[in-house]
Amino acid sequence: MTSRRGVWITLEGGDGSGKTTQSNLLNEWLTGAGRTVVRTREPGGSEVGELIRNIVLHHRGDIAPRAEALLYAADRAHHVATVVQPALDRGEIVLQDRYLDSSVAYQGAGRVLDGTEIRDLSLWAAEGALPDLTLLLDLDPVAARARLDSDDKPFDRLEAEKTEFHTRVREAYLALAAAEPERFLVLDAAEAPEQIAARIRARVEQLLAA
Ligand code: TYD
Repeated sequence: MTSRRGVWITLEGGDGSGKTTQSNLLNEWLTGAGRTVVRTREPGGSEVGELIRNIVLHHRGDIAPRAEALLYAADRAHHVATVVQPALDRGEIVLQDRYLDSSVAYQGAGRVLDGTEIRDLSLWAAEGALPDLTLLLDLDPVAARARLDSDDKPFDRLEAEKTEFHTRVREAYLALAAAEPERFLVLDAAEAPEQIAARIRARVEQLLAA
């Protein structure tokens, strides 16, 4: 495990669960309180990561599930080493859209690979680094799909998967949260955005005071 002075918060949840809205609200609140926030994401939080993101999300045609898992892990390795850990060493707050729980949920449960192996692969890639807090926006995949449909954006490779895939992803996320209740805060993404944001702020306040 790597040393740390800053605070690392990740957002997780299915596509269409409102992670971006909550990330924006939390960022506004933190920066308003004078904190330095580094906002980043996986896949794609670095230059190399943007290249990998383009492959995993937009490649036309199949990618073998294990190759997909390795691409996400490669993105993670480079991102943690060059973006996340340096920011934590500077004492900053890292606010990150998706991390290794996404791999366990999407590549493990979604693509039906072994979740423990996927987690171990990510932990190896990231030298064991785990966030201080993971915000899980939990939403029924049918409701999430309705939200995505109302957007104009075309679906990426993962979003285009069937409802059963996204149901497996959701169940895996909830199992991860149940296994690590101290790291996770599970939020009902069907609630009003401001209500969710208030719950998040209360938890982050505790974390920053600790
Ligand atoms: P995201 O950046 O949330 O997409 P968007 O910008 O369209 O909201 O995530 C991209 C997709 O990558 C998402 O469907 C989940 C998937 N993903 C994995 O399958 N495994 C992973 O390890 C990560 C980080 C993301």
